[in-house]
Amino acid sequence: MDTLASYDELPYDSLPLPETQPDFLAAVARLHGFVAPDPSQARILELGCAQGGNLIPLAWRWLESDCVGVELSRVQAQAGADFIHRLGLPNVRIVHGDLAALPDDLGEFDIIIAHGVFSWVPPAVRHALLDVCRRHLSPHGIAYISFNVAAGWHALQPLRTALIERTSAELPAPERHRQALRVLDQLQAEWSDPFLLKEIAYLKTATPSYLFHEYLAEFNAPMGFGEFAAQLDAHGLRYVGEAGPRRAVVELEDAWGLTPEGMAGRWRDAEAALDDALAIRFRRALVARDDAPCAQPPQAEALRGLAFHADLHSDEEIDLETSTEQGFLNPAGNTFPVALPAMKAAVMALSAAYPGALGYAALLSAASQVLAEYGAGADVDEAAFRDALFQLVLLHGLMPAVVAGSFAVEPGERPCANALALQQANTPGWVVSGARHVAMDLDPTGRMLLGMLDGTRSVDAIASVMRATLAQSGLELPQETVAELTHQQLWLFARQGLLTEPSGP
Ligand SMILES: C[S@@+](CC[C@H](N)C(=O)[O-])C[C@H]1O[C@@H](n2cnc3c(N)ncnc32)[C@H](O)[C@@H]1O
Repeated sequence: MDTLASYDELPYDSLPLPETQPDFLAAVARLHGFVAPDPSQARILELGCAQGGNLIPLAWRWLESDCVGVELSRVQAQAGADFIHRLGLPNVRIVHGDLAALPDDLGEFDIIIAHGVFSWVPPAVRHALLDVCRRHLSPHGIAYISFNVAAGWHALQPLRTALIERTSAELPAPERHRQALRVLDQLQAEWSDPFLLKEIAYLKTATPSYLFHEYLAEFNAPMGFGEFAAQLDAHGLRYVGEAGPRRAVVELEDAWGLTPEGMAGRWRDAEAALDDALAIRFRRALVARDDAPCAQPPQAEALRGLAFHADLHSDEEIDLETSTEQGFLNPAGNTFPVALPAMKAAVMALSAAYPGALGYAALLSAASQVLAEYGAGADVDEAAFRDALFQLVLLHGLMPAVVAGSFAVEPGERPCANALALQQANTPGWVVSGARHVAMDLDPTGRMLLGMLDGTRSVDAIASVMRATLAQSGLELPQETVAELTHQQLWLFARQGLLTEPSGP
């Protein structure tokens, strides 16, 4: 096979995946007592990388890394190669080819990413993927492998079956997708199971590529954690931990005195039990070679060696005096409950520093400072603080990293977007990615604004161009309104790390 027609016809929405950031992966590994290689100079391999919407921004941010993507769909691989060429990025390439036929001399990688691939390929390619990990991971390297989990997927199978049976496999992918939308309408009228109806409602708003490649894909083979772990064993690999947000954490009782291997066995059984208890649908597993040191369930103690970043806000006034639970929202609209006043203060400090990250000690003292500034007692009970931090990190309200750092660049007099953001904004089909590797939800006006920030225009000149362009599309707005909107949007770009200092005079 020299290409994949379905992905050529209907390319996957190739997005940045925050959980694949090298410093995040290294941080999660450390929570599990596993020391991964230095993320700033990692060799990174992404299998089934589509057009590189994840890999290219990683290479851009980690300029000393060396990144290789492998993609079987010729159209997607070519789109990625063209984008890299236009960006002139030297540390990333996308190879058009089959992950099951990689050359032995490809070398060793500190990070191997396979997102949305394992469950969606034939069994032979699934085995080949694990083989690639065993053959090409460096001794302490980590692989990120996401997969659909049988426990949660079981209830969705009737929907997949109905969509497959009632659409024509011989149609080109975009047409079959349109047919599938009509089938969803029929199923909404015929079915009464609230769980399936909720999924149908979601699928009607989902991107065409998700509906098609998840529900109409030739292969979609959900697997239990136990079976996944057994397949790792058979390929000389071992589970390190979970890179996805966790709703519950495995705690092993009476684990004192167990060897790391003995503990790993107990842990594996407990993870398998969680699949059923929580009807888990999707996992993002971190995996290492079986000759690397054995990992363990996550430990709050390990937080002391990490840094954290967060983009959270609250719609309510924050109560730093009492332990009343309050919800903090991230830009995707997910809510994270926080009760401990010191943790509320820490979230405030992190949000002010975003996209920068604060190390554990700096975060503790920033929280204490915020409490003092607001007249609340500045003494922080460190054990309670660490427990609250642990919960938020496991939920991905706060993201851990192995290095602290700051990014902020203010819009300045002549705002200038970095070369990646400019190229993404000006290329249809590419999503703009923020400094913390999040997909930015920009409307066409926002993209246009970002795409003109080449450092040559003043903020007033930018607002005038925006006003004229909006007028051309029939939207007449006063200059002050456009200036205000432009100003707000520029600060949003700055907060997401999209701006840079203009180069040259
Ligand atoms: C569901 S998409 C996920 C894309 C991307 N990893 C992401 O998460 O956005 C699966 C990708 O794997 C690619 N793929 C499938 N089989 C492959 C193979 N044998 N070798 C290389 N790529 C493959 C597909 O073409 C497609 O781009």
